Amino acid sequence: MIDLRRPLRWCFLHLERWLDAVFPAGWNPLHQLGALGFFYYWVVAVSGIYVYVLFDTGTTEAYESVEFMTVEQWYLGGVMRSLHRYASDGMVLMMVVHVLREFSLGRYRGPRWFTWFTGVPVLWLVMIAGISGYWLVWDQLAQYIALETADWLDWLGIFGEPIARNFNTASALDDRFFTLLIFIHIVVPLLLLLVLWIHLQRVSRPQINPKRGLAVGTLAMLLALSFWKPAVSQGPADLAAVPGELGLDWFYLGFYPLMERLSDAAVWGFAVALTLLLAALPWLPPMRKAEATANTAVVDLGNCNGCQRCADDCPYNAIAMVPRSDGMAFDLEARVDSDLCTSCGICMGACPTATPFRRRSELIPGIELPQASARALREDLEAATSGLDGESGVVVFGCAHGPKLERLDLPNVASVALPCIAALPPSYIDYALSRGFAAGVFLAGCHEGDCYHRFGVAWMEERLAGERDPALRRRVPRERIGQAWLAEDGLSDLASAIEDFQAGLAPQAASAGAEPVRKRLEEEEVGSHA
Ligand code: HEM
Ligand code: SF4
Ligand code: SF4
Repeated sequence: MIDLRRPLRWCFLHLERWLDAVFPAGWNPLHQLGALGFFYYWVVAVSGIYVYVLFDTGTTEAYESVEFMTVEQWYLGGVMRSLHRYASDGMVLMMVVHVLREFSLGRYRGPRWFTWFTGVPVLWLVMIAGISGYWLVWDQLAQYIALETADWLDWLGIFGEPIARNFNTASALDDRFFTLLIFIHIVVPLLLLLVLWIHLQRVSRPQINPKRGLAVGTLAMLLALSFWKPAVSQGPADLAAVPGELGLDWFYLGFYPLMERLSDAAVWGFAVALTLLLAALPWLPPMRKAEATANTAVVDLGNCNGCQRCADDCPYNAIAMVPRSDGMAFDLEARVDSDLCTSCGICMGACPTATPFRRRSELIPGIELPQASARALREDLEAATSGLDGESGVVVFGCAHGPKLERLDLPNVASVALPCIAALPPSYIDYALSRGFAAGVFLAGCHEGDCYHRFGVAWMEERLAGERDPALRRRVPRERIGQAWLAEDGLSDLASAIEDFQAGLAPQAASAGAEPVRKRLEEEEVGSHA
């Protein structure tokens, strides 16, 4: 089976780079698609309330009231109508790109199935809300959509009386039909909000608001568009005549020309098949090797003091703090819900007991991943750095979703891979430097603002800055720590950043009159944690 994710990922990486160059740091819209979707929703809601106040239900009143706000009250009613339309289009755009991006990143399977699965009805609800809005205007476009949609729905044969009958003659269409339409146009968006709330139930601290500057810029863009190209109607509906040439809103109505050409059965078949395919996607191949072999985090109660840091840092709400079950003198213990755990390892990075300074036999923290344990991490560090020497040996700790560390080929540089950069307890940085395993520690992770595991980069930065527990100890020389947060195609940028960092290490050591940094552990030190 062709893996569509690769070409999509390639496109997104290029687009991301380009947007990075255009937008200020942290504003890249691709990193805030869900939040922008919500922003557009609120603009649609506020402008919709205003439009509703001026709207009249009725076969002639509907069109006239929309004309009034567009022409007579262009400066407010017209702007609100345009905002309503353009923000609705923006929502579709954000939603489609959001879906494609989550898909390309593989963020739809495993424990993430729930968020993906609950996103599928969102697609339908957004489309129904938008299309019902176009009906309400009751212009020629509305007439065209009404007839096409009614035919399509009638094919199901579930309505006592065919809907299309309402459009046979002008007299057949009554005001009650508009009341029903407006009810749909209000209830569906409210339902959408409810489904979006469910959509985010398994996402801890979801970003539902875009960066302020981006929000202001988006609103300014919508306003500019509303003044420059106001939304207008396309002549009153006339059921006695066939609508002439129509301008379509391609975001909502792009598939209507296709509906004209295909049979209703084929369009239903296509819509249902696409929905089922999307809904089933989390369980369909291909699965990544790492996903297939990953085990979820395990708690060792003997080492858990109930401090709650793992639960606070888990990006997927997979850890609950529950009353102590083992009689120890703590109130709480951590409990992992393996259905929610994505094996990111961030909890181990947060656990104060995951410190390499403990004796080897004792190095079992309160929580860890069996396939990337705290002990294995220390062994990896020791093994990887065994070939380093001099005052410029650098160990790179990197995550599985940024640039591929195995392709990094730099002299006197070793690397240790983690599922996420925040799976690294800061004490390992202290350990690597104070025990002389390396002259410098370099941290590499996903692009800032776009961490695969959502908070890996943010939590690591806060731990380094002493703003989040477990914080990196003050005694650790910060100038010996480098970092670069780059997307997976940023290998050459990563290599340059490491080389620059490495070049700065030797002069530092010389000016400090330091002993050669690399001093292997004394025999007894090895013995002390054997
Ligand atoms: C307008 C519609 C939508 C809005 C406003 C929206 C909003 C959001 C938000 C705010 C997040 C959390 C982002 C974060 O903080 O990391 C999110 C995540 C996600 N959404 Fe949506 N979403 C929409 C539609 C969809 C649809 C249609 C799908 C799929 C069919 C989908 C799939 C996902 C997935 C897979 C995640 C990632 C969860 C994770 O990282 O664990 N969303 N969405
Ligand atoms: S961070 Fe470690 S010690 Fe604290 S609650 Fe979680 S497992 Fe227990
Ligand atoms: S590995 Fe830990 S932090 Fe990551 S999802 Fe599982 S429980 Fe949460």
